[in-house]
Amino acid sequence: ARILILNGPNLNLLGLREPEIYGADTLADIETRCRDRAERRGADLDFRQSNHEGALVDAIQAARGDRDVIILNAGAYTHTSVAILDALRAFEGRVIELHLSNTHRREEFRHHSYVSFRADGVIMGFGAPGYLMALDAACDMAEAA
Ligand code: DQA
Repeated sequence: ARILILNGPNLNLLGLREPEIYGADTLADIETRCRDRAERRGADLDFRQSNHEGALVDAIQAARGDRDVIILNAGAYTHTSVAILDALRAFEGRVIELHLSNTHRREEFRHHSYVSFRADGVIMGFGAPGYLMALDAACDMAEAA
């Protein structure tokens, strides 16, 4: 399976930013665990982060024909970005929406997700281990296809 894990704004500050909500693990810690899991599952993993909406759109466009599954934690752009939704709609593979926190238990403005309009599945509220859950789900999806 060819998988892209794409992280949006402020996720580079994971471990430092609001640890009571997002946990103590850094994005580098999570990437290491994901690379280990991908290797065990025989998956080709591309792991990225950007704070810029256009860079996220570019990464989704570049995944066309190159990746089987995109796992996307779009951060705050989840709740605002029609451009990211449109880019996902141009992608022919599977899409998993991922969040560390359960956004439905938080502020009202986090309850709506543009990404959900295109996501095949959503994993949220499990913290850093959610990345491995999403990666396993992505491998399963690609193997079943
Ligand atoms: C988040 C939830 C978003 O509402 C927030 O803006 C984030 C992180 C999460 O992983 O829980 O930056 O996507």
